[in-house]
Amino acid sequence: MDYQDQNTYFARAYRTGTDHWSHIPFTRRAHEITEHLPKGSLVLDLGTGRGRLLFDLAGLGYRAIGLENNPELVARGNNAILLRGQEKELRFFEGDALDIPLANDSFDGLVDIGLLHHISPEDYTMYVSETARVLKTNGYFFLVVLSKNTPAFYSWHPAKDEISDYEYERVRYHFFHDQELKDLFEKSFEIVDFAHDLPYGSKDAIYTVMLLKKR
Ligand SMILES: C[S@@+](CC[C@H](N)C(=O)[O-])C[C@H]1O[C@@H](n2cnc3c(N)ncnc32)[C@H](O)[C@@H]1O
Repeated sequence: MDYQDQNTYFARAYRTGTDHWSHIPFTRRAHEITEHLPKGSLVLDLGTGRGRLLFDLAGLGYRAIGLENNPELVARGNNAILLRGQEKELRFFEGDALDIPLANDSFDGLVDIGLLHHISPEDYTMYVSETARVLKTNGYFFLVVLSKNTPAFYSWHPAKDEISDYEYERVRYHFFHDQELKDLFEKSFEIVDFAHDLPYGSKDAIYTVMLLKKR
């Protein structure tokens, strides 16, 4: 699928400070992955955005790379790393999560907070094979995606509708059924934990939070 309009939307939002998702408090929860990884482990954050998780991970004693397809964010993020003197622990890397420009079996941990639900279903196989390729065997993958249990999203009601897809400002959102997620990952990953989370309150989007372990 062609993601150009979607990428233009993300770039404009970051430039104008309207990237509301950067305030959803999921990075704290993503710290759970560190309970399974020894200090010094290397983590890849897919669609890292402003890299808020990267800086947290460095503070907790981990090394991390943030993959992001927006070159402005990558340049800005690497400048921030230099200013903080964290270039031994952290790096922003420009690239596509569907064609990760990094070697096989190179990461102990993997995180995706809010990227997969913007990917088109025809690319899910590629997404799973790329994530499984770069993660070491027995490595952990922490994933946060929109759930079909969401009662309301803008003026639409995902939980009550037969369809699972929504488009707003040319950005696609897919609301995942629980079974759909299990089917997607179970060949390559063991499902260690599967939960739902409402980060802001009962009227907001419900997210599925998964912890996977590569087989
Ligand atoms: C909803 S935002 C989440 C950002 C970040 N994970 C967070 O929680 O703040 C999705 C991010 O993925 C990036 N992105 C979208 N498609 C991508 C792709 N195919 N490869 C890499 N990054 C992508 C966007 O530029 C955006 O920064």
